Parts: sequence; C-alpha cells; structure tokens
Amino acid sequence: MECGENMKREINGELLNVPEHVAVIMDGNGRWAKKRFLPRNYGHAEGAKALEAICENCDKLGIKYLTVYAFSTENWKRSVEEVTGIMNLFRKYLVDSIERSNNSNMKVNLIGKREGLPEDIVQKMDELERETAGNTGLQFHIAINYGGRDEIVRAVKKIMKDADAGKISADDIDESLFAEYLDTKGVPDPDLLIRTSGEERTSNFLPWQLAYSEFYFTDTLWPDFDMDSLIEAVRYYNKRERRFGDAK
Ligand code: IPE
Ligand code: IPE
Ligand code: MG
Repeated sequence: MECGENMKREINGELLNVPEHVAVIMDGNGRWAKKRFLPRNYGHAEGAKALEAICENCDKLGIKYLTVYAFSTENWKRSVEEVTGIMNLFRKYLVDSIERSNNSNMKVNLIGKREGLPEDIVQKMDELERETAGNTGLQFHIAINYGGRDEIVRAVKKIMKDADAGKISADDIDESLFAEYLDTKGVPDPDLLIRTSGEERTSNFLPWQLAYSEFYFTDTLWPDFDMDSLIEAVRYYNKRERRFGDAK
C-alpha cells in the first residue's frame, strides 16, 4: 500500500486512499484581499467561507478528522484593526457553527491557549464544544491562539503538577503518556498536512503531531481552496510511500 491504512473511496471515478486525519494551515487571506485592492479583513471573511466549505468537503470524502490553524500565538503581532476583525469573525463563526455542526453531525473542538482570548469568545468556544459533543460525524478541531511550542510547554506544566500531586512519576512518562497531555489528546496524528499560499513552513503548527505526516504545499490562496483543490491534495497523498522509519 502506498500510504497509511486509510479508507479507499471512489472519487469522480478514481479509486483513492482517503487520509483519516487532514491538517490545514489556512494561509493567504491577506494576499487574496490585496490582489483585489481590498482590506485584509475582507480576505479573512472570505477565508471563513472556505472554512465552512472544507468541513463539508472533508465529510463528503469520508475524512474523519480535520484540524485547521485559524490563529497562531504569533498572530497577535498584527495590527489592532486586523486582530479585532479576526476576533469579530470568530464571534460570528462560533455562534453560527452550533446549528450548522448539529445539522451535519459534526463534533467541534477548540485547541490552543484559552488564556489571552477575550472572555466572551472563550465562552462561545466552550458552548460550541458542549453543544456538539455528542455528534459522531466529522471530528473538527480549530486551532485558535495555538502555538505548538506553547502547547508543549503547557503539557509539561500539567505533567509537573500531576507529578507534584503524586499522580505520576518520571518513569511513567513515555511518548503515549506525553501525548495525553497535549490539546490533541485522543486524536490520531494527521496523515496529511496541507498549506496554502505557497509558503513551505509549519509556522509552529502541531510540531509533535506532524512528525510522520505527508506535507502538501499549494500556491492556491486559502479563500480559493475548494473541493477540486482538496481532491488534488488527496491525489498527491496517494503518490506518497509512507515508511515510518521502516525499510522498503
Ligand atoms: C491566514 O492568512 C490567516 C491568519 C493567519 C489569521 P494571512 O492573513 O496570513 O494571509 P497572508 O499570508 O498575509 O496572505
Ligand atoms: C500561519 O500563518 C498561521 C495561520 C494560518 C493561522 P502565518 O501567515 O501567520 O504564518 P507566517 O507568519 O507566514 O509564518
Ligand atoms: Mg500568512
């Protein structure tokens, strides 16, 4: 088998191995707007529409887990105007998502650092998680105020606290226990990482979890990423030979 043990599906007459977990760095909203002489926040609004579409499209293809990078711990460096615009989009998105997710049986989880986000947004995140907790379709993770290094530091702090409380000792710590302390606890690692907009870096996204993922980079800007773009990424994934350190 060329790639991991994933489900085979016929897509537009083509038999494709569908990755179980897809992670996406949704990049290029600013450039999408700039090309149209529009303010950057128009690009983010268009990006939010593409986010709704990719959930539906992943579900149609039979992908079980989707994790997207919506706002990094480094994105606070942007102008107040841009950050405020993005936060306002989250407010609307999180509220609208409850009904949409329940209609499509989608379970939503928010990963990243809650601390530092506006209180009402944290409440909306909790509400969305609570309201969709029983859904059994696409498992959708949105990374907001997420940084991979921050996630690892937070995990270490939790481990230290559990050690101080006598719940665990140094000898208990191995890779699987460590993973239990990450925001992605219980979720299999991504099979495929997609980054749009032509940048070829991970920008602090899931450094632990992407250790053996396949990487797909495309010049397409995030707001333009549609079903055909997703199928193209899955096609690329099918050409990869995953080895996980083994010899072939
Ligand atoms: C990604 O698009 C969205 C966020 C980081 C919030 P960008 O805003 O980074 O778009 P470019 O890279 O400037 O085009
Ligand atoms: C990564 O994109 C973060 C998100 C897509 C949310 P950036 O645009 O922030 O990354 P850099 O600055 O180009 O590395
Ligand atoms: Mg960018």
